[in-house]
Amino acid sequence: MPTIRENFNSSQLEGSDMTISGTAVLCLEPDGSGGFRIKEFSRRKPAPDEIEVAVAAAAVNPIDVRRAQGYGRKLLSAIGAGKFPLVLGNDFAGHVTSVGSKVTTFNIGDRVYGAKPPSAEGTHASHVLVKAIHALRAPPDRDLESLAALPYSFVTMWLAVRGAGLTRENAAGKNVLMHGAAGGLGTLATRMLSAWGAGVTAIARPSSFDTCRQAGATDLVDCTATPVRSLSRSFDATLNFATWEDDLALIDCLRDGGLGHATTVHPMLNNIDRLGWLRGVLKSISEKRRRQRALPKGVRNYVWTMFKPDTAALVSLAEFVKQGNGSLRIGLRKPLKEAAEAFDHTRKGKPGRAVLLP
Ligand SMILES: NC(=O)c1ccc[n+]([C@@H]2O[C@H](COP(=O)([O-])OP(=O)(O)OC[C@H]3O[C@@H](n4cnc5c(N)ncnc54)[C@H](OP(=O)(O)O)[C@@H]3O)[C@@H](O)[C@H]2O)c1
Repeated sequence: MPTIRENFNSSQLEGSDMTISGTAVLCLEPDGSGGFRIKEFSRRKPAPDEIEVAVAAAAVNPIDVRRAQGYGRKLLSAIGAGKFPLVLGNDFAGHVTSVGSKVTTFNIGDRVYGAKPPSAEGTHASHVLVKAIHALRAPPDRDLESLAALPYSFVTMWLAVRGAGLTRENAAGKNVLMHGAAGGLGTLATRMLSAWGAGVTAIARPSSFDTCRQAGATDLVDCTATPVRSLSRSFDATLNFATWEDDLALIDCLRDGGLGHATTVHPMLNNIDRLGWLRGVLKSISEKRRRQRALPKGVRNYVWTMFKPDTAALVSLAEFVKQGNGSLRIGLRKPLKEAAEAFDHTRKGKPGRAVLLP
């Protein structure tokens, strides 16, 4: 397994001139044609609360593929993350090469991993500046490559689980129905909820049943043969990591007095892309209200999950990794100059995460 930069020597960088250049994969146009170019850039000094990381590995997640096709452009432009050309990528794992003046938690040479918010200066690069609070110390026994595939997916999954009303304290004995259970978020959610004592009913294709069982699913539903709407109204919580089309049907599977539902596949960004800010937001509010009205009696939680590098979620990720639960299968490893192949792997839904090794 390639573990580039694992032989990193911190003395090589201490006191070195930080204006030397880095390389990054520039995504050229939001046209889905996979137009990428390698660019060189001048590395900046970290702001007081930032660290610079020499990236050893960075995942290509489904969101990167969609952003490369222009998805979310209007909303993300509001935070400077929608204007092309841009560098994609949220996840990073690597070594600290420079530390901002107010950072006390990391030193040059530390092995770190984490996720940064959506930006135009993503992690598909040799070096990236991130806020120190968005980085975690990598355990010495974990390779950086496998850690790079985790943070964005884990944090989003954790926010969804919490959004549906599930916590470590209340999860034991709860029945959770999960759509998209064999994917990255689904695998991590099944592992975490099983460890918390919940029973997970996994909706997936039969070819993915083994993956779901290994993650801890207690029951399996074949999504090619059993429509979600035919399932019983008996679940304490429902999670949608698969498709917006089934969101109402999943809500219908909640029992009266259940905890709630969260979806990561809601149409908000798409609505704003298609209809503009005002009409897109109004349509999203109306779609959300329609589903809130459909919640069974006594169910309070209904959440459209959006990734953000939440501190509590990162703390949970660190524990999850320490307990040895945290890894996702890596399906493809590519250098930056072959980024198009990594994006293609993710776009086609091939097994395992794709990671870029700068
Ligand atoms: N809102 C946010 O901030 C946010 C953040 C992270 C992820 N997401 C989204 O959340 C979703 C899950 O992420 P992920 O990383 O877990 O993706 P993933 O690894 O691609 O997994 C998605 C899973 O859903 C299944 N699926 C997709 N469409 C389906 C359908 N129509 N019927 C049945 N199963 C279906 C897939 O099964 P097959 O492979 O068998 O089709 C796969 O197992 C993605 O759509 C991603 O873009 C949103």
